Amino acid sequence: MKAEFVISAAGKDQWPDSTLPEVVVVGRSNVGKSSFINALTNRKRLAYVGNTPGKTRLINFFAIDDAWMLVDVPGYGYAKMSKTMLKKMGELMEEYFSERSVLALAIQLVDARHDPTHDDMDMIDYFKALGIPILLVATKIDKVPKTKRIKALKNLSTKLQLPLSEIYGISSTEKLGLDDVYHAIQAKIL
Ligand code: GTP
Ligand code: MG
Repeated sequence: MKAEFVISAAGKDQWPDSTLPEVVVVGRSNVGKSSFINALTNRKRLAYVGNTPGKTRLINFFAIDDAWMLVDVPGYGYAKMSKTMLKKMGELMEEYFSERSVLALAIQLVDARHDPTHDDMDMIDYFKALGIPILLVATKIDKVPKTKRIKALKNLSTKLQLPLSEIYGISSTEKLGLDDVYHAIQAKIL
């Protein structure tokens, strides 16, 4: 897979002038969005991974195989961020989700170890309302004991009212489940 960084955009005037379909990776802060992008593209530092939440503050565009764009956005639900910063990032994302005409798919990341948060559910409802297709990815599955993984995915399926067949458990550190997600993306957008 070919993956190239295109631009970090602070606003719509900096969005790439491209007609490729875009796949945006969303989830609460620290859920593993940037790690997922690196693991999926098999690159160590394509997207910035941080130990402190709230590291990604701009909208980052990556061109994949010259065929589609992977888009990394700031995480939501990071309580320690200043009100001003939260508002600015909310506006940045709202603008992208509602106005980006080439947006083809949202990959919603949730933590495999926990129930989805209210913010996760709001986000999913928001995509449904905008008619944006969703693929659900449960991250950090390596932290769930092997015998409990199916149960964890079933729990997410029930809580989020999404079919189990559309939920992918992945680990970016152990490189689990990534091929399946890659194929699911291809099937949805190409
Ligand atoms: P923000 O940009 O702050 O919103 O965070 P993010 O969602 O991009 O998360 P990031 O990829 O920076 O990962 C956050 C932390 O979780 C880092 O310490 C990662 O090493 C860790 N992490 C990410 N994915 C996995 C995973 O699959 N398994 C495990 N065990 N840790 C992970
Ligand atoms: Mg990030």
